[in-house]
Amino acid sequence: MSRKEEKQVDLSLRQFIKDLGGITGGAALLGTMPWLQSFTPDKLKEVAKEKSRIAIIGTGSRGQYHIHNMFSIQHAEIVALCDTYAPNLEAAAALVPTAKKYSDYRKVLELPEVDGVVIATPLNWHAPILLDALSAGKHVFCEKSMAYSMEECKQIYDTYQTSDRVVYFCMQRMFDEKYIKGIQMIQSGLIGDVVGARCYWYRNHDWRRPVPSPELERSINWRLYRESSGGLMTELATHQLEVCNWATKRIPKSVMGMGDIVFWKDGREVYDSVSLVYHYSNGVKINYESVISNKFNGMEDQILGHDGTMNLATGMYYLENENIGKSGIEQLLSQIGDKVFTAVPLAGASWRPETKKEYTPFPILADNFNVSDGISMIGAVNDGSDQMLSAFCQACITGEKGENIVEEAYSSTLLCLLGNQAMDEQRKIDFPEEYKIPYMKF
Ligand SMILES: NC(=O)c1ccc[n+]([C@@H]2O[C@H](COP(=O)([O-])OP(=O)(O)OC[C@H]3O[C@@H](n4cnc5c(N)ncnc54)[C@H](O)[C@@H]3O)[C@@H](O)[C@H]2O)c1
Repeated sequence: MSRKEEKQVDLSLRQFIKDLGGITGGAALLGTMPWLQSFTPDKLKEVAKEKSRIAIIGTGSRGQYHIHNMFSIQHAEIVALCDTYAPNLEAAAALVPTAKKYSDYRKVLELPEVDGVVIATPLNWHAPILLDALSAGKHVFCEKSMAYSMEECKQIYDTYQTSDRVVYFCMQRMFDEKYIKGIQMIQSGLIGDVVGARCYWYRNHDWRRPVPSPELERSINWRLYRESSGGLMTELATHQLEVCNWATKRIPKSVMGMGDIVFWKDGREVYDSVSLVYHYSNGVKINYESVISNKFNGMEDQILGHDGTMNLATGMYYLENENIGKSGIEQLLSQIGDKVFTAVPLAGASWRPETKKEYTPFPILADNFNVSDGISMIGAVNDGSDQMLSAFCQACITGEKGENIVEEAYSSTLLCLLGNQAMDEQRKIDFPEEYKIPYMKF
């Protein structure tokens, strides 16, 4: 990254902090989003002269994305890199030539100079590395989803309760300005009672990475195999389910769904098409869908209220009382009555069905903001990942835990894993008692 780019990222981070100050409006925001407590300008000033020393474990695409973001975090430096796959380790070493290099993460955990580790390995490695890191006294920033199985998630959650170490999971929407402000608007009543949620993620891509030799297929394309991945649920849905719970301040009590391999019949084991319904105890439902062989609909996180709709992914909201007019059917009947049409113009351009009423879009943020097209498998610009990583690096210096971050990641990961179970077993699954935690309100 050039010095010029570095400065630009740094400026956007400062801008974010400034904006955050502007939208807090006192204790209300921090009350519902307490993980932002540690991310105030005063705290940043406190750590300005120190540097946390970070090791990156897993230097594939996401690990290298974090390395790039790390360049603009002044209170951090990368001191070690670790990957089991030499080409990815070397690619990262080319970015940070001063860092020590390892292929065994346990060696990294022995380094006294490492304060915290970033774990960006495949899902099945999250829990073993994270738990070993906590035992070794390291702070941890781990990629989502939390872990491969419900048992591992519970083990991480329980260990964290008795640990004095900081643990972050990269649920970056929690640090994305448009999500923060949009959820604040929902919770302050702008869209009225939340009556539903509709989230989807559509792509048209095989989700494959090139493999230089066949024996590397399962390690490079780990996302496609059940031994290492929870498929679309743990890779994509986890972010979106977290947002729904954040908006509703509840956890769904049950889930049902259907999953299939519809198009990419190339030996993969995870579904390429999933449709699920998550059911909250008050009757509100999340309709979730992900398909990776058609991208017409893109990626959206819609929270539906009686008075409006918050589309957090696009940064827009819509009010129900805008454009109040006749419904499609009423328009059609009056047009026929007025003899505008002699016959019913089915599919005609001048008759819009009720479902296609146009709403005026209002932006959540007044200033420019970035919108992810949902296509990148690595990460989007200014999607909150950089801010969250910065907050973690700061916490490695102050020792201040990120409130609710582990709980949010635990809840959404459990919902993803339960969704997979519901699809595999083709039945409705209730949230199991043994995995409930005090944080959860059903
Ligand atoms: N938060 C987000 O938006 C986001 C976006 C993309 C990926 N991710 C997550 O990041 C993680 C990595 O994804 P990716 O796309 O970078 O995968 P990747 O395959 O590109 O990189 C993973 C790296 O981990 C290495 N690795 C595997 N086992 C290891 C071990 N035991 N010790 C050290 N290194 C090991 C692999 O060799 C590889 O280089 C996943 O958990 C994924 O879900 C998150």
